[in-house]
Amino acid sequence: MAEIRPKPQAVSEATEAQIAVHWREEEYYYPHAKFVGQANLTDPSIIERFSEKNYPECFREYADLLTWDKYWDKTLDTSDPPFWKWFVGGKINASYNCVDRHLDKYKNKAALIFVPEPESEATISVTYRELYVRVNEFAALLRDYCGLKAGDRVTIHMPMVPELPITMLACARLGVIHSVVFGGFSGEACGMRAADSQSHVLITMDGYYRNGKMLDHKAGADIALETAKKEGHVVNKVLVWRRHQGKNASATPFVKDRDVWVDEILPKYAGTIVPPVPMDAEAPLFLMYTSGSTGKPKGCQHRTGGYLSYVAGTSKYIQDIHPTDVYWCMADIGWITGHSYIVYGPLALAATSVLYEGVPTYPDAGRVWRIAERLDVNIFHTSPTAIRMLRKSGHDEPTKYKYHFKHMTTVGEPIEPEVWRWYHDVVGKGEAVIVDTWWQTENGGFLCSTKPAIDPMKPGSAGPGMPGIYPVIIDENGQEVSAGSNKAGNICIKNPWPGIMQTIWGDRDRFVTQYYAKYCKDRNSKRWQDWPYFAADGAVLAADGYFRILGRVDDVINVAGHRLGTKEIESACLTVPEVAEAAVVPVVDEIKGRVPEVYIALQPGIQPSQEIIDKVNKVIETMIGKIARPKHVHIVPDMPKTRSGKLMRRILAAISNNMKTGDITTLANPDVVEKVRELVQGKETVAVADGPEDLKRFGTEE
Ligand code: WT7
Repeated sequence: MAEIRPKPQAVSEATEAQIAVHWREEEYYYPHAKFVGQANLTDPSIIERFSEKNYPECFREYADLLTWDKYWDKTLDTSDPPFWKWFVGGKINASYNCVDRHLDKYKNKAALIFVPEPESEATISVTYRELYVRVNEFAALLRDYCGLKAGDRVTIHMPMVPELPITMLACARLGVIHSVVFGGFSGEACGMRAADSQSHVLITMDGYYRNGKMLDHKAGADIALETAKKEGHVVNKVLVWRRHQGKNASATPFVKDRDVWVDEILPKYAGTIVPPVPMDAEAPLFLMYTSGSTGKPKGCQHRTGGYLSYVAGTSKYIQDIHPTDVYWCMADIGWITGHSYIVYGPLALAATSVLYEGVPTYPDAGRVWRIAERLDVNIFHTSPTAIRMLRKSGHDEPTKYKYHFKHMTTVGEPIEPEVWRWYHDVVGKGEAVIVDTWWQTENGGFLCSTKPAIDPMKPGSAGPGMPGIYPVIIDENGQEVSAGSNKAGNICIKNPWPGIMQTIWGDRDRFVTQYYAKYCKDRNSKRWQDWPYFAADGAVLAADGYFRILGRVDDVINVAGHRLGTKEIESACLTVPEVAEAAVVPVVDEIKGRVPEVYIALQPGIQPSQEIIDKVNKVIETMIGKIARPKHVHIVPDMPKTRSGKLMRRILAAISNNMKTGDITTLANPDVVEKVRELVQGKETVAVADGPEDLKRFGTEE
């Protein structure tokens, strides 16, 4: 397994967090009258209703969107900071709220519309009634065939197919904690997560379509189980969904008594109804692993009542979802965006949620717009990377199709104002309102965004804090940075909110040190006011109260809106025997925002070779997945280091991005910087610019 190094703290230098940031103030855009006329949220009194004066009771408004088995006694319990408890004493079931309660009114309405990647395959609609039947049958299988009960964990490694939300909702029905691992992650990455969560059941699928090819996905399950075993954990059941009736997309043989086709045992449970288990509001609903500053991904543990309330409220007010809408979020359910804004939020509101299996530009640049036209999608949700990709591959493509979006979301990375304008003018045809939503896996739902019918939009800015969320920018000395000062700092949230994770699975200490230690002045305080949440993002607050997010201030690289830890990639590199040292830095990519670039120094006596580079690429792919593939692997004679031996990743990041390296005279080996620079950029290159904010401040020194 990967070497796990001691955890460093997310820190950035005092001077860096305070640098003045200059960017052109963008013009406001105002929502179309047609949008405002039909919007869920047009009453500006929301601001007053969710002001600090009415906190935390304001969040009753979100919780009241749900159906509770037992109403809660206490809205917020702060007795054990920072382990906040929400809607204490309440009982609720997430599956009931996303399925059963809609049957009276909407049983015949599509809950999910599945669009297979091959255009020759028909679209599949799953009505709320069908969803109810399928969730119940699969819950019966989980309960009676697997023996699962409330509190058990299950790892799910599946592609974008209706069986994925069905599996999640079946778990939620029983109170089983699901841990969905993004389908694009490798078997090994899946196995590490299965071991950490101690799941005894893995649910997967034989294969799926990606870019015109049917991939063997089940093969990853075998690797996952081997990996878990090496970690000392045994997974004893593998449930395999089948992508095509009567076919098997996987070449790997089934292991007797361990692997089983779902469709061979499911008929036994035909028509079985499983009563939804009333869960404590504080019972964990799911784990979602994400990358941080150490080699080991952490399991963000999300609660049932608070999480579901928060995603229902934000889906209604910010996504403007009505049951009559056709809503398409192009994210993968394997990320938090998919959990909150494909599955739980939209289904809690009885929306129709579209699931697309494949690549947005397959087979051509018009695919996304064809789907939108055919299904009459009117709410669209995606990331800047996808927008940049669609813009590059087919600038005028959207104009050829007769769809009409009323609302569009961008999420996951900062969006360049130029790209924002294309999204608005061409994709949105000037009619759609845009929300740029800033949040994180840890947060459950949006933290900053404009309220679509109330606030004007500003390209490149996420907007003000959400109702009931009070963000603040704090500098390295713990001082609040004032609005309009043009100074960058660390964005923090002053108060707890219902969507915040409960803890890191199995690691309470890390939860405290990672998110709260930095600005907590009194660890004994029971007042939430003393525990600001540290998000590890740099940001600037404009005079109008809009936040502009600059990017991570820790060792996390945001690749195409997905988080990768540099330490995870470095740990993978170090498993190649020839590699003595590895450093991973982000490099700017026109489409994906940032991608990792790898620097390695070899063991004494080993000569650089293409073979070593190939090995490094391969190990990253098998230990993490294709999304972590580096742009380049550079073999360098030595790493730039401080006199105390700390590796200076910031200097390597400057070299990779053709930025000025700054003062290097304090290094133990300043001469190596020029050697590395020549190796990477060639002799003639002159560093051109200061570079983007996140790169200037990149990397903890250790
Ligand atoms: C990181 C969180 C939950 C959303 C999907 C990504 C960056 C997220 C924005 C935005 C600029 C953004 C931040 C954050 N980020 N949204 N609207 N503008 N940056 O979730 O994988 O947990 O990543 O994504 O850097 O810390 P994630």
